[in-house]
Amino acid sequence: MTYTRRCVQMLYEDHQAVMALASEIDGLLGRTGRDGPDMGDDATHQLVSRAVEAIEHEVTDHFAFEEKSMFPLLREEGEDEICDHLDEDHRVILPLGKSAAAIARKGLQEGFDHDSWQKFVHDAGEFIERILAHAEKEDMAMLPLLEDILDAETDMQLAEEYASA
Ligand SMILES: [Fe+2]
Ligand SMILES: [Fe+2]
Repeated sequence: MTYTRRCVQMLYEDHQAVMALASEIDGLLGRTGRDGPDMGDDATHQLVSRAVEAIEHEVTDHFAFEEKSMFPLLREEGEDEICDHLDEDHRVILPLGKSAAAIARKGLQEGFDHDSWQKFVHDAGEFIERILAHAEKEDMAMLPLLEDILDAETDMQLAEEYASA
């Protein structure tokens, strides 16, 4: 999928990236026993570390950009209902992600035990399920609207702000 507006393309690519990472983490959850993975394994360590970074930076910044710069444009066009819905998703998804990231950060330093892994499985599992549905919703309902609403100049300006954030 390619969009004309840079902001829309960037959001779309973020969604693709988070979906790919979510499915890698989902794979790890699926193949790991109840007491957690061997954090001495390089690939596992890297994957968990990438997930923590993505939640604390990419996902956080992405949500903030949508809330600060995209939802107001949609609201100006009377799209309050979808914005309220997506905003509500953000309020649930980010805390789940942050909780999973905090557990994972500790896991990166000290390894997981049975309890911390089970808590991670729960929060990360729910985070993944919800963020996948959310990204899909935005791809279908929000991106086409933004592609219509954004004019070239606003698009360029907001895309530059987002890229340099
Ligand atoms: Fe969103
Ligand atoms: Fe998004």
